[in-house]
Amino acid sequence: MKFRSAKFSAMAFVSVSIFSATGAVNAADTTPASQLQYWAQQANAPANAEQGKVFYNTRQKQDLSCATCHSANPLEPGKHSSTGKALKPLAPATNPKSLTDTAKIDKWFRRNCNEVVGRECSAQEKANVIAYLISLKP
Ligand code: HEC
Repeated sequence: MKFRSAKFSAMAFVSVSIFSATGAVNAADTTPASQLQYWAQQANAPANAEQGKVFYNTRQKQDLSCATCHSANPLEPGKHSSTGKALKPLAPATNPKSLTDTAKIDKWFRRNCNEVVGRECSAQEKANVIAYLISLKP
């Protein structure tokens, strides 16, 4: 795992500003745009939304793809392939909470990439998927 303390201090600053601006308790500690920037920086290359779309739809281990649970159209709700549980859309345009919680994003990238790809996704793959999700508009 790469050293992330610079990001943590930036995030702390953002959370404090959200808190004082609205007075509301908000679990959000990041934004889709700053996640995109972070992972593109880690990859040391620009994100490619087209490649993100291909990656998202490519069936890998056990015939699973990201689309299997998150829907071929990430603007729409998904459905868990084994539990049948409804999943909120991954695209921020139709689910404003998506990609706004660093711990949740890290946890599910780890879990889902292991399940679909059989390993952690690379920084480039994460940047590409996030760029694809951000590019989608209803
Ligand atoms: C077996 C079903 C399944 C598959 C396949 C799957 N996911 Fe998920 N994913 C989930 C579940 C369940 C959640 C948690 C949803 C929730 O609690 O809102 C989730 C959440 C996420 C989140 C966090 C979204 C947020 O709210 O910020 C990301 C990012 C994500 N998945 C990416 C992927 C990617 C990329 C792939 C393909 C490599 C993938 N997922 C494949 C089930 C799946």
